[in-house]
Amino acid sequence: MRGPPSPAEPAMHSDIIFTDLAKELAAKAAEIAEQYVRPGAAKHDKLQEYNWDAARAVAAAGLFGTFVPVEYGGTGAGILPLAMVTEALARADSGFGVAFAVNALGSFPIILGGTDAQRKRWLPAIAKGEKMVAFCLSEKFAGSDASGLSVTATLEGDEYVIRGEKKWTTNGGVADIYSVFAVTDPTSKSRRISALVVEKGTPGFSVEKVEDKMGIRCVPVVETHFDNVRVPKENLIGERPGMGFKHAMMTLDMARPGVAAQAVGAAQGALDLALVYANRRKQFGAPISSFQMVQKMLADMATKTEAARWLVYSCAGAIDQGGAGAPAVSKKAAMAKCFATDVAMEVATDAVQIFGGYGFMEDYPVAKCFRDAKILQIYEGTNQVQRMVIARHLIKEAGELEHLQQYIPVETQNAYAADGATSSA
Ligand code: CAA
Repeated sequence: MRGPPSPAEPAMHSDIIFTDLAKELAAKAAEIAEQYVRPGAAKHDKLQEYNWDAARAVAAAGLFGTFVPVEYGGTGAGILPLAMVTEALARADSGFGVAFAVNALGSFPIILGGTDAQRKRWLPAIAKGEKMVAFCLSEKFAGSDASGLSVTATLEGDEYVIRGEKKWTTNGGVADIYSVFAVTDPTSKSRRISALVVEKGTPGFSVEKVEDKMGIRCVPVVETHFDNVRVPKENLIGERPGMGFKHAMMTLDMARPGVAAQAVGAAQGALDLALVYANRRKQFGAPISSFQMVQKMLADMATKTEAARWLVYSCAGAIDQGGAGAPAVSKKAAMAKCFATDVAMEVATDAVQIFGGYGFMEDYPVAKCFRDAKILQIYEGTNQVQRMVIARHLIKEAGELEHLQQYIPVETQNAYAADGATSSA
């Protein structure tokens, strides 16, 4: 029998290393957040307008290069710096946090699965912020069940012809490059799907329904339609069909710490507002921050936010230390996404409560914090899916705990044989 596991397995630990580059990028993001993101957040939210000024400032500061490797024009800073930058931007406006981070989500299929030629073709412009990116996976009838896609890409001569509709394309219309997941082999179970790049302006490609959303209103979420869209076969990511589902899952493992970081920023942003308000607002002759029930709320909000932050940093740090594709990354990414986004919702709800009637009014940004938080629990995999992923990993990892069998009641081990018949134990 195998001995007890060392403390490093199966939990997967990482040394969290904040490089000078990471700190510099995060500081730049915090500056841009206060100068370009926060002041216009209410207007962009109300009008459902993209914040181009902030995007240009992010591009000028080189922040879109955070997630692009150096050899393709980025800073190659990695997932932890990406999380720190996303958090800083989201602290001022959670919607702008996703407007930034979705470019990483759309680029990861190319970074993870693309050929060298494909990376050279698309990534340098993404790193400079000259081209925005979107990720087209979900469809009307395929959300959590990401393998149940119906959009097809059929090889005709030297071209793939894409037909069908995608739903919930974040950044649709703003983006120039779309990573599109489509069925290339309907007869295969495990190699059914491939990812292709479709560029804006390709005949037959259109942005159709621009959604009217509860939150994150400064970033468009649309339907993308593919009416016999022809792309050269060189646009098939990795130039090997059938790798799409794997690439989608690996992409989501890399991107979920980004949503989690957005959630940490969103929670911190709501807490910041609640703190300032609680110190200012007087009732019964004293600031409400002097009342124990309000203090309890503030203390819990801050503690949960800090716990979420370190789970995100730990997950992002582990990916940077070479973990992409490892099962432990998948579990940790799901944990970070699920925990941090639940925290963001709880903290935003409590922030509204602290603001009382004012919190319920759209005159103040705290109502927007609340509206923006909800989607975090839904997109890039619902928190139900995250819990399913976590539980699947835990159940597999339980195999590593054989040495604990001796502490389990014998009756529960032997009462039934594998076929359901009562054993003689
Ligand atoms: N990394 C690499 N490969 C993986 C993987 C991972 N994390 N997870 C699964 N796979 C592989 C498996 O090894 C298996 O490969 P083989 O067929 O070769 O054995 C294959 O993928 C199928 O795996 P499962 O049987 O586990 O797949 P499943 O059908 O049970 O689905 C799921 C698993 C976790 C539910 C997955 O479908 C999922 O993550 N769903 C949620 C999708 C999602 O997050 N959608 C959001 C899209 S983005 C968005 O929200 C919009 C936006 O723009 C922000």
